Amino acid sequence: MNDKIKVELKNLSKIFVTNKNEQVKAVDNVNLIINPGEFVCLLGPSGCGKTTTLRMLAGFEIPTSGEIYIGDRDVASLTPDKRDTAMVFQNYALFPHMNVYDNIAYGLKLQKLPKAEIRARVARILNLMKMEDFATRVPSEMSGGQQQRVSLARALIMESGVLLFDEPLSNLDAKLRLHMRDEIRKIQKQVGISSIYVTHDQEEAMGLSDKIVIMKDGAIQQVGSPREIYQKPVNEFVAQFIGRANILDGKIVEDRGGKVTLDIHGVIYETEKTTGHSAGDMVRFMIRPESFLIGGTDFRAPVTKSVFMGSHHEYEVELFGRVFEISENNPMRKETVDMGGELSFSMDPNSIHILEQ
Ligand SMILES: Nc1ncnc2c1ncn2[C@@H]1O[C@H](COP(=O)(O)OP(=O)(O)OP(=O)(O)O)[C@@H](O)[C@H]1O
Ligand SMILES: [Mg+2]
Repeated sequence: MNDKIKVELKNLSKIFVTNKNEQVKAVDNVNLIINPGEFVCLLGPSGCGKTTTLRMLAGFEIPTSGEIYIGDRDVASLTPDKRDTAMVFQNYALFPHMNVYDNIAYGLKLQKLPKAEIRARVARILNLMKMEDFATRVPSEMSGGQQQRVSLARALIMESGVLLFDEPLSNLDAKLRLHMRDEIRKIQKQVGISSIYVTHDQEEAMGLSDKIVIMKDGAIQQVGSPREIYQKPVNEFVAQFIGRANILDGKIVEDRGGKVTLDIHGVIYETEKTTGHSAGDMVRFMIRPESFLIGGTDFRAPVTKSVFMGSHHEYEVELFGRVFEISENNPMRKETVDMGGELSFSMDPNSIHILEQ
């Protein structure tokens, strides 16, 4: 296998011109580093520029401006086959008339490698993917998940430095998607190949990534580990896009550079580190549904929704003219409040996260 490779995007932009001569800014000044061997997910709503970014990396789309480095090389002027990337597509893109063996061997045959080497490499990949028994099947004789494994094998066998995925699991049912997600992660770790994975499924991004890149309208909103993105989203968009979030206002009582005293509608909380606020400033903060302390006495609010979900109990309550989502884990041994009742709760001070923007 190749050495692990670093990828860097510098001030990368793409403006499309439609047939009506309108300009669409699909990717807007993206700067991003993918460290050698890292698994990075591009995550964001439909139309935010994920596929366009990936296609520019692969060489299927020419940037309007900016640079792309794969290893030490600026690849902007190279054709896709010269870029040291391999791509796994959403629709598998297998050759329907070829069996699994020939599909996987295809790229190596194009490179005119000796037959014996091709045989050895295909055998190794089939073994890695646990697909030895499928070598002579054609795609129509396999399930979606099996076909997607072949398509992954076909990309891996090229031994390129960077693996690109564009929503490879979106055609699979929920259970298979989960299984394949684990497979991809396991094989990527085993092979150690730098990977960039496009998805609009936040759970998939959480489950796969070393690093998540949240995009909106062509621009990066935040880059961080799944934990950072979930616990410390920089703005309301990121907070709402990953998991569920309650966004509220509070007033700074004191900011000591380490801890902040926050007045939340008359209740005083000591919370996390922040900087640059003055007494009296109004701020917005986020608290996740699971970060309330149910039974606490700081707040009391009418319950407008109360649903038992097995692993947790979901509430909606009305307070300060807005709806709060609150969830209680492991509800089986606890008394729950029905719709129409009143829930009393406090906030976990360490889970109050002040938004920067
Ligand atoms: N060839 C094109 N001509 C004009 N506009 C385009 C073209 N390709 C993409 N776009 C526009 O660029 C923006 C980004 O598209 P892109 O396909 O990168 O989004 P995406 O994040 O992959 O979305 P999805 O999750 O729906 O796949 C969209 O507004 C899209 O309409
Ligand atoms: Mg896309």
